[in-house]
Amino acid sequence: MKNILITGGAGFIGSHLTRLFVTKYPDYNIVNLDKLTYAGNLENLRDIESAPNYRFVKGDIVDMEQMRAVFKQYNFDGVLHCAAESHVDRSITDPLSFVKTNVLGTMTLLQAAKEHWTGNMEGKIFYHISTDEVYGSLGTEGFFTETTAYDPRSPYSASKASSDHFVRAYYHTYKLPVKISNCSNNYGPYHFPEKLIPLCIHNIIHNKPLPIYGKGENVRDWLYVEDHVRAIDTIFHNGKVGETYNIGGHNEWTNIALVKELCRQMDEKLGRAPGTNEKLITYVQDRAGHDMRYAIDATKLKNELGWLPSLQFEEGISKTIDWYLANTEWLNHVTSGDYKKYYEEMYAGR
Ligand code: NAD
Ligand code: DAU
Repeated sequence: MKNILITGGAGFIGSHLTRLFVTKYPDYNIVNLDKLTYAGNLENLRDIESAPNYRFVKGDIVDMEQMRAVFKQYNFDGVLHCAAESHVDRSITDPLSFVKTNVLGTMTLLQAAKEHWTGNMEGKIFYHISTDEVYGSLGTEGFFTETTAYDPRSPYSASKASSDHFVRAYYHTYKLPVKISNCSNNYGPYHFPEKLIPLCIHNIIHNKPLPIYGKGENVRDWLYVEDHVRAIDTIFHNGKVGETYNIGGHNEWTNIALVKELCRQMDEKLGRAPGTNEKLITYVQDRAGHDMRYAIDATKLKNELGWLPSLQFEEGISKTIDWYLANTEWLNHVTSGDYKKYYEEMYAGR
């Protein structure tokens, strides 16, 4: 029996990770600790909320006393740390909250784990879920590997880079058994519609403009979220302590090509004439410091642990659109209230 803490389990990736662990490992006790910020939503976990091996704790990873108390109460053997502020645009308007959650929050958790596990580190794992954005921005050539120098360029990526450094510092200084993975852009069900793909799906449904930053030539490497959490499962159980693994889809798209593919598929699915949705595309002011290209080399993960993505992008995006079309109630809930204010503020001046 293992006691596992998942932080940020009510968010996008965290909810898929929690579902995978709760269903695949009935012998593990899974505690999902989440502050339930705007991005955290317990509706994401409806199907597993009554599972006997699952428990939700409302909590803030920045709160040292609370973290000490939950470690004591549940005697965790493993931590899967997903909780974070995750949206680059929000980090540009409110950088301090990113430092607080991503840097201080990660530090607080590391410290709580260290205090709880000191004298008995055997078999324990502190797994930190991070991003490819820590490596900076690529030109047209090359890929990020695990040895690429860190070069974060947004407040979000700087805060994640800083948290990665603290995780490694706890490994080297205190021998805390850590693992880190840096993943490329995820997509799939339960993705909050502030991010490009769900935002465009939502806007296409409602015939609203599709805001493309700059010329739409920036490139992202997209991975289906269930493939990401499968990789995390593999690394958590079989990866080496102290190591970093890159996770990516070898699936690069310019933003404009991706949004056109969404438009094309949604013309078909919504019974609109070909070309209808593309008319919604609107070029808007670019993101400040917009990274040009991300692309991951996941060879280490493939060679050492045998992980490969399972889904082709066209299939993954079709599944994703179908999910949003079948879950309009979820979409309506998350886009009511504060979302409208956020949208107006973020896009009005563009
Ligand atoms: P998300 O914004 O959807 O979810 C974040 C979750 O963390 C939410 O449930 C939120 O309530 C919770 N949270 C925020 N602050 C908290 C705090 N102080 N205490 C406790 N809980 C708190 O994020 P996501 O897209 O699911 O990303 C999860 C992790 O994966 C992040 O660390 C992110 O950096 C990383 N990541 C994301 C992607 C991606 O494409 N989304 C890619 C690579 C890495
Ligand atoms: O690479 C991994 C990262 O991917 C994660 O660490 C982040 O948490 C996650 O949010 C994501 O960051 P991006 O900034 O790449 O994702 P986003 O969906 O915000 O933007 C994708 C691309 O689309 C990016 O080049 C900016 C552009 N964009 C985004 C929005 C929201 C637009 O053109 N218009 C938009 O309205």
